Formats: sequence, C-alpha cells, structure tokens
Amino acid sequence: MIAIACDHGGYELKQEIISYLNAKEIGYEDYGCYSKASVDYPYYAKEVGQAITQGKCEKGILICGTGIGISIAANKIPDIRAALCTDCFSAEATRLHNNANVLALGGRVTGPGLAIKIVETFLGTDFSGEERHLKRIQMLD
Ligand code: RB5
Repeated sequence: MIAIACDHGGYELKQEIISYLNAKEIGYEDYGCYSKASVDYPYYAKEVGQAITQGKCEKGILICGTGIGISIAANKIPDIRAALCTDCFSAEATRLHNNANVLALGGRVTGPGLAIKIVETFLGTDFSGEERHLKRIQMLD
C-alpha cells in the first residue's frame, strides 16, 4: 500500500500519479490535499510519514511545488527516508542504496510524463540489501 499526499503546489501532479496508480491497480491511501486551495505541506508530510511508521503503508509519495519543503518535513520523522527526485537514475539509486521509503516530487518542477517514470522506477526497485548500505542507513539513526 502506497501513502500519497501533496500540498496545493503538488495537487495537479498528485492527480496524474493517482491516475497511474489506478491504471496499474496499485493500492494507495490518499491523505490529501483535495483541491488547489492553499495548505501547509508539513501536515501532509506527517500524515504520510506516520502511515509508514505505523505500518499502514510500505512507501509514500509526497508532492509540493518544489518537493523541497515536503521532503524536509518528512525527513524530520524517525525512520522516514524521503528522497526528492527529478530523474530516474536518482529514483533507482535511492531505493538501491538508501532504501528510501518516501519519494518526493516537485509539481512545479517535474512534468507528469517524467514524474510517472520516476514513480515507476521508485516503486519497482528493491533495496540492494548490501552490507555497506545497511551500515550507512543504520548510522542515520
Ligand atoms: C507553496 O507555495 C510552496 O512553497 C510549496 O509547495 C513548496 O514548494 C515548498 O517547498
């Protein structure tokens, strides 16, 4: 199960990603926001982070205008490793190396075609499990 949320700057891209998840029959919980009205991104980062740390969802997708604020907020939550990605190489590497559990995207930065490729890469790549990466992830705690 994927937890997904956005602020107003990410609302349109979230709708595109939801259409992709629906088409691929990938399960998700939509934690908002539900319109382009101005909202505060830290709230949505917390909702998705808690859905993961409470075991309701395995991974998350967070979108704000740049992806920066919402990823900063998500990374304040223990055990959340949020990666802001603007390319598929980084999306693959952050799963392989960082075991990132949240993908952050910028709705005003990354167009829907590329964003969906990034989502596909992020969700389709398993953590490598290699010792050196495990050690470094443990050091984050
Ligand atoms: C909202 O205008 C914008 O600041 C927000 O979506 C995000 O880009 C913050 O990092």
